Amino acid sequence: MTILDGKKVSNDIKNEIAVEVQKIKDKGEKVPHLAAIIVGNDGASLTYVGSKVKACERVGFESTLVQMSNTTSEVELLDKIKELNENPEIDGFIVQLPLPPQINEQKVLLAVDPDKDVDGFHPTNFGKMALDMSTFIPATPFGILELLDRYGVETKGKHTVVIGRSHIVGRPMSILMGRKGFPGNSTVTLTHSHTKNITQITSQADIIISALGVPNFLKAEMVKDDAVIIDVGITRVTDETRPRGYRIVGDVDFANVSKKASYITPVPGGVGPMTIAMLLKNTLLARERHNI
Ligand code: GUN
Repeated sequence: MTILDGKKVSNDIKNEIAVEVQKIKDKGEKVPHLAAIIVGNDGASLTYVGSKVKACERVGFESTLVQMSNTTSEVELLDKIKELNENPEIDGFIVQLPLPPQINEQKVLLAVDPDKDVDGFHPTNFGKMALDMSTFIPATPFGILELLDRYGVETKGKHTVVIGRSHIVGRPMSILMGRKGFPGNSTVTLTHSHTKNITQITSQADIIISALGVPNFLKAEMVKDDAVIIDVGITRVTDETRPRGYRIVGDVDFANVSKKASYITPVPGGVGPMTIAMLLKNTLLARERHNI
């Protein structure tokens, strides 16, 4: 069994990006600049956005964090997005999800300039992804592809089962694994809350990508020998023995599933750190696009 070490690979990628940034600096050009908008004060979202900003510093990017109150109106947020769209200093930006209930998420995602949409959530970019056109691939799916690529995990002709159809992970992942090329060329089954006999489906999978958000959902009995297991779950579970009062738990019963798997991602230290590395990669790409 091989651990797909997202912490190590993401560090490799960040080092590669830092080298690119140094080259940009040596030429006297503007370094990439990522901005993040966060609305409200959800603890997990603040942590994720904080990690994104810290990662920018680490590779030499400029970063801007825009914090807006929980009572921000849709119009105020749309105005801020317009400002970032029009600001030539900003190469790319993200609006951290989820948003408070008074704000329509679809309207917000549509307002982001597709050329600055480093999350790859705008329908134009999502459509391009589905049509094999060059675009920004959402960071978490992009990170999973990169892990499979760097470990040389065979995906061609394999049966990939994706659990969860979220717009951020499950749905794009199901499209990407079926695309032509590597990683891809899989036969994909997308499962969700209305799927019947899920164990029957997962136990036939060569590759399982679980993005459900239910701690320890995937048990050893649901997995065949030598399957590849990608765990996208990051649920906070109360744990008074930890300094923060919680620990992060994945969708996969790691202790038992890892005994059967050929490759498996740990939680934490698997897909999570890859997401941030690929957001930086998308920002570097955005800067290149703006400079052509
Ligand atoms: N919320 C959970 N994951 C993500 C992500 O990848 N991007 C944004 N903007 N919000 C998220």
